[in-house]
Amino acid sequence: MQTLWDGSSPRRRNRPVLQQGKKKEVRDAPFLVFDIAEVEKKVKEWKEAMPRVAIFYAVKANSDPELLRTLASLNIGFDCASKNEIDAVIKLDVPPDRIVYSNCFKGASHLLHAAKMRVKLMVFDSKEELEKIKRLYPCARLLLRIKITTSSASIPMSCKFGCDFENSIDLLDCARSLDLTVVGVSFHVGSLIQDPKDFEEAIQLSRSVFDAAKSMDMKLTVLDIGGGFPGYKGSAGLFNKMAVSINRAIDEYFPPDGHYTIFAEPGRYIVTSAFTLCANIIGKKERKTNEGSEVMYIINEGIYGLFVHKVFHNFKPKPVLKKECKDLLPCSIWGQTCDPSDLIVEKCMLPELPMGEWLTFDDMGAYTTACATTFNGFEKTKVNYIVSRTQCNKKEIYNYINHRKFLIQLVVLKSRL
Ligand SMILES: Cc1ncc(COP(=O)(O)O)c(C=O)c1O
Repeated sequence: MQTLWDGSSPRRRNRPVLQQGKKKEVRDAPFLVFDIAEVEKKVKEWKEAMPRVAIFYAVKANSDPELLRTLASLNIGFDCASKNEIDAVIKLDVPPDRIVYSNCFKGASHLLHAAKMRVKLMVFDSKEELEKIKRLYPCARLLLRIKITTSSASIPMSCKFGCDFENSIDLLDCARSLDLTVVGVSFHVGSLIQDPKDFEEAIQLSRSVFDAAKSMDMKLTVLDIGGGFPGYKGSAGLFNKMAVSINRAIDEYFPPDGHYTIFAEPGRYIVTSAFTLCANIIGKKERKTNEGSEVMYIINEGIYGLFVHKVFHNFKPKPVLKKECKDLLPCSIWGQTCDPSDLIVEKCMLPELPMGEWLTFDDMGAYTTACATTFNGFEKTKVNYIVSRTQCNKKEIYNYINHRKFLIQLVVLKSRL
C-alpha cells in the first residue's frame, strides 16, 4: 500500500522548524480592547436622557463577565433569555426582581430554573406559553408581548414575536381564566430603527392594551419598551431623538403620577462602542476586478468569528485609519477561514500595508463575542480590559492598542535574537 509517511518519527519530522535550536514564536493573535468606562458613560447618559425608563441590559448582546460585573455594580436590571444567562447574573448577587425573563418560548427546564431562582417577571405571547407557565410556575408575573408592525427597523421582530391587538384581549382573558397574574405589556420595535417615532406608536398601542385590560377589570402597571437603541460611535444624535420621542409618549400615555414601572432592554446601545478589535494581516494578494485591480487582505478574524454580525445584522465593518494617508488603493478584507464567502469588507480604500500589519475596527461590542464560533478550529478572540479616564476615550484606546502592538513586536524581536 502506498503511503505518504516517510517512516520518520513525528519528532524527527518536526525537526526542521526547531533545528536552529531556538523556538520560533509568532505573536499575531487578534485581540479585543474593552473600555469599561465607555459602558459606565452609556449608562450615565441613558439615565440623563430618560430618567423614567430603567435599564434592563439584554445579556444576549454580550455576556462578558467583566461587563456584567460592571453593570451589576451600577444597580441596573437584566434581560435574560435562558438558564445560563439567568445564572450569569444571579452569580453577581443581582436580586431576582431585577431580572426579566424575556423569551416568549421558554424551555420547560429553563422555566423551572427561573422558578428555582425566583425570577418571576417574564413575557408571553401565546396560549400555549400561558398553559406551560400555569403548570410549571403559576406565581410568575407576566408581561404580554405585543407585535409592532409599523417599525422602520432593519431587524424587525414581528415575524416571530408578539401578538396583535385583537389577540391580546383573548390572551388576557385566557390568563385570567387560568388564574395567572398579568402585570403589564412588553414590546420590541426591532433593532437598528431609522425613525425615532416608532417608539411613540408602540407606546400608544401599549396604552390601548392597558385600557382593554382595565375594561376587563385587570390592572396593568408595568411597561417594558424593549431594545432597539443604537450604540455605534456617532449615534448619540439618533439616540437623543429617540429619548425625546419616548419621554413625550410615556408622559402622555403613562403619566408620572400613574405609578407605572417603565423599563427598557437595551443591548447594542450599552455595549457596541465599548469594544475595539485589532486583527493581523496574515495574507495578501492582488486580484483583477471589473474596475481594474485590488489588493485582497486576509486578516485573522472573520464572519464565523467576531464579524458574524455582518451576516445577521447587516453590520458594515470599516477599518480605522488613524492618520491621513495619501496613496490609497482599492482593497477588500477577508476572513481567515476556508469559506470563500468569508468576506468582511467588500470595498474600501487603504494604503499599501505589509504582511503582519495590524488593522483596527471600532464598534465591535454587540452580538460579536456572543455569537462568534470556532469554525475551522480558530479560537475565539481574547478580550483585554482598560478603563479610560477621559471623555475622549478613543484616543486612549488607540494608545493602548499601539502600546500592545509595540509589546508584541518586542516579544517577536526578542525571540528572534
Ligand atoms: C427581547 C429582546 N430584548 C432586547 C433585545 C436587545 O435588542 P438591541 O440589542 O437591539 O437593543 C433583543 C434583541 O434581540 C430582544 O430579542
